[in-house]
Amino acid sequence: MRVTVIGAGYVGLVSGVCFADFGHRVICVDKDAGRIEALRRGEIPIFEPGLADLVAANISQGRLEFSNEPTGIGEADAVFIAVGTPSRRGDGHADLTHIYDVVREIAPLLSPTAIVVTKSTVPVGTGDEIERLLRELRPDAEIQVVSNPEFLREGAAIQDFKHPDRIVVGTDDARARAVVAEVYRPLYLNAAPILNVSRRTAELVKYASNAFLATKIAFINEVADLCESVGADVQDVARGMGLDNRIGGKFLHAGPGFGGSCLPKDTTALIKTAHDHGAQLRIVETVAAVNDQRKRAMARKVVAALDGPIRGKTIAVLGLTFKPNTDDTRDSPALPLITALHDLGAVVRSYDPAGMEQAKPHAPDVVCCASAYAAAEGADAVVIATEWEQFRALDLERLRRIMARPVIVDLRNVYRGDEMKRANFRYVAVGRPDAECRPVPSLAKRSAGRLGGAE
Ligand SMILES: NC(=O)c1ccc[n+]([C@@H]2O[C@H](COP(=O)([O-])OP(=O)(O)OC[C@H]3O[C@@H](n4cnc5c(N)ncnc54)[C@H](O)[C@@H]3O)[C@@H](O)[C@H]2O)c1
Repeated sequence: MRVTVIGAGYVGLVSGVCFADFGHRVICVDKDAGRIEALRRGEIPIFEPGLADLVAANISQGRLEFSNEPTGIGEADAVFIAVGTPSRRGDGHADLTHIYDVVREIAPLLSPTAIVVTKSTVPVGTGDEIERLLRELRPDAEIQVVSNPEFLREGAAIQDFKHPDRIVVGTDDARARAVVAEVYRPLYLNAAPILNVSRRTAELVKYASNAFLATKIAFINEVADLCESVGADVQDVARGMGLDNRIGGKFLHAGPGFGGSCLPKDTTALIKTAHDHGAQLRIVETVAAVNDQRKRAMARKVVAALDGPIRGKTIAVLGLTFKPNTDDTRDSPALPLITALHDLGAVVRSYDPAGMEQAKPHAPDVVCCASAYAAAEGADAVVIATEWEQFRALDLERLRRIMARPVIVDLRNVYRGDEMKRANFRYVAVGRPDAECRPVPSLAKRSAGRLGGAE
């Protein structure tokens, strides 16, 4: 089949290359000429494990092309729209400017029987509006508009795309349904369930799923706070809950709050949709509010770990991306934490394996370092904000030698309290009061002066 994907970001690029890998002939279109030039040179503009090899293989086999003009639209069996739908500045509604720009651009080029598939996350009713616009711009045509939301996770995007839990296809039109099913044929041969529903239902499945995942995270984070008060361990609580099949263990990791390009903006947009329709989503509203406050509140953990004001202190923040294995820093919890640390007068040094460039505009005062150890040099505390693999196995001896004070605030619960105790660190985690090792003897002995340094 011939497929055109508009928007070559995290979703469009991964979808396009996976469709090509299924055997389809795919053109990925993006208005960002620099991005397309880079892709043509074989450079991948985003950090996503396995993507570079898959792109190279499909280009060399002649199934994948890139263009910064709408190309192959008239010949495509299906045109997928995968452009961004960020939060609209000011009110939190999904900003659909890119979606409607694309629709206006491609309308004159579409074949009269084209299938337009929205892969971007769009509020309920957007498909109806796209259809109305296409009828207006192309009264001659019988174009079908399908909703096919995407559920991939950055960092595991190819695996998720090729082994989805479900493929949601929203249309009442049999021809459109058959075309989309054919695009995904290799997956349903692999037994991935296809859920055929109405277009509005498909649009809502995506938002309801993300709101529910956000709710799980916010829930376990509040339970973590309670654990700290009552002396329970949130990791064991989560495990005890998650082993119940009705609950499931995923998205029950306590931490600094959810971030990323989807959950924050999608929960907010869903709340706005509900308001517009006179419905209330009080649980989701609370989740969004609780999560917003939590990110900044993590700075209080740092203050507590250092026994008081942090003005003039140096804090090393390890990790800037919202999760590991991505360079995406959109709504990353690390960023409001850094702002809060700056507001409290701290000097913040940081290192992230992939997200330094992306984070810079949002954290201009951060001292960017070349490694975790460079960031930790002379620091009064190290804060683990993202659970990158390399931060899970830090050389604690080395860290202790180079830091001004041996204090670690582990917002991702990647270390064990007993190993930190053995390494003579003051260690603070999330929802694990037993992990708080304080004060270690050497810390107490040296607390009058500047701690650490060469030993
Ligand atoms: N990132 C994720 O993990 C994820 C997962 C599921 C769903 N989604 C949804 O998928 C959509 C895309 O997200 P993303 O993270 O891939 O966005 P992104 O910002 O990484 O990529 C969007 C791309 O679209 C391009 N673009 C914008 N307007 C265009 C136009 N008129 N013509 C051609 N290209 C245009 C941009 O240049 C950009 O490269 C969003 O609705 C998002 O909510 C994202």
